[in-house]
Amino acid sequence: MRRVSHSIASPKTSIVGPSLRASFARQFLVGTCVGGVLPASLDASERGLLRHHFNVLTPENCMKPGPIHPAPERFDFTASDALVSFAAEHEMPVVGHCLCWHQQSPDWMFEAGIGRQAALSQLRQHIHAVAGRYRGRILGWDVVNEAIADAGDALRDTPAAREIGPDFIERAFELAREADPNAELYYNDYNIERPAKRERTLSLLRRLLASGVRVDGVGIQGHWQLGEIPFDDIRAAIEAFAALGLKVMITELDLDVVERPDCSADISVQRAYAPAEDVYRDGLPAPIASQQAAAYARLFQLFGERPGAVSRVSFWGLHDGRSWLNTWPGKRTNHPLLFDRGCRPKAAFEAVLGVAGGAA
Ligand code: XIL
Repeated sequence: MRRVSHSIASPKTSIVGPSLRASFARQFLVGTCVGGVLPASLDASERGLLRHHFNVLTPENCMKPGPIHPAPERFDFTASDALVSFAAEHEMPVVGHCLCWHQQSPDWMFEAGIGRQAALSQLRQHIHAVAGRYRGRILGWDVVNEAIADAGDALRDTPAAREIGPDFIERAFELAREADPNAELYYNDYNIERPAKRERTLSLLRRLLASGVRVDGVGIQGHWQLGEIPFDDIRAAIEAFAALGLKVMITELDLDVVERPDCSADISVQRAYAPAEDVYRDGLPAPIASQQAAAYARLFQLFGERPGAVSRVSFWGLHDGRSWLNTWPGKRTNHPLLFDRGCRPKAAFEAVLGVAGGAA
């Protein structure tokens, strides 16, 4: 006998009906980041949403150098172990994020003046401990995050670059390969679709490939602002990175609907929002929701344009209530994702499904 259970089948939570993961199965993986210690950090509707729509997980914070390795001999694997077990239980691959970054990284690791050898040995200890612990259980690692300067020189001026030198990137990739030979190895950054930063990224990737360093893919973060999405640049960047033989991934997708300074995704930028600037505190007006839906549809169409080029599209958050854009670059109510605060599908969700290439 067929039974319809309204508690499970309620359309309000969007855990029945077409899923993102199945709809894009022939094109790319569809993922999200998750925070906290799983499974308790998500409520039942959130876990339902996660399992129904997504097939790859990225830890939002717990695998970053600062949280996971706060002191030279001290590690905190509580949240990362829980995430890796949760993912295995639900047969979802995990993207490790990230082994080397200038933000959310402990001061001791590349402390000023320690010199190249000490910094390299700490980088080695870090990568071997973290990537080694999850060896065989990680689909791919964001080995180096945001190493390219927003303007000017090729590399950002960071503690790792100062202590080790510009080849800290090569060394990080080699160490990651040693620690987990079967994990894919990625370079991840924001704004690398924009022409100037794209060129600098291409030079870096060519340099790595020419010197025999194994790099498998490049992540375009995708923290874009509604109304300012550089569609043509994104297309050109996907083409150019794919032409190097690399997998291309959209790794941290969200579409901000509130004004923010032109700071892309630089987490060091902070700005106060006055209460009057919290314009969508009471909800997302229908015209903005439709504009966002159209933008998301256009993006997903573009991601699928060149078959095989984009291997994964991951959102930076499960639903609007879980987005970092509610607190960065300042506190205001944001609505950047496909599901609202009640896990209900937004117009953007329907629009994205509308351009899906079909189930596997
Ligand atoms: C963000 C997290 O979402 C926040 O919770 C945290 O406070 C700061 O970092 N680029 C990245 C991500 O590579 O790791 C950042 O995540 C967002 C920008």
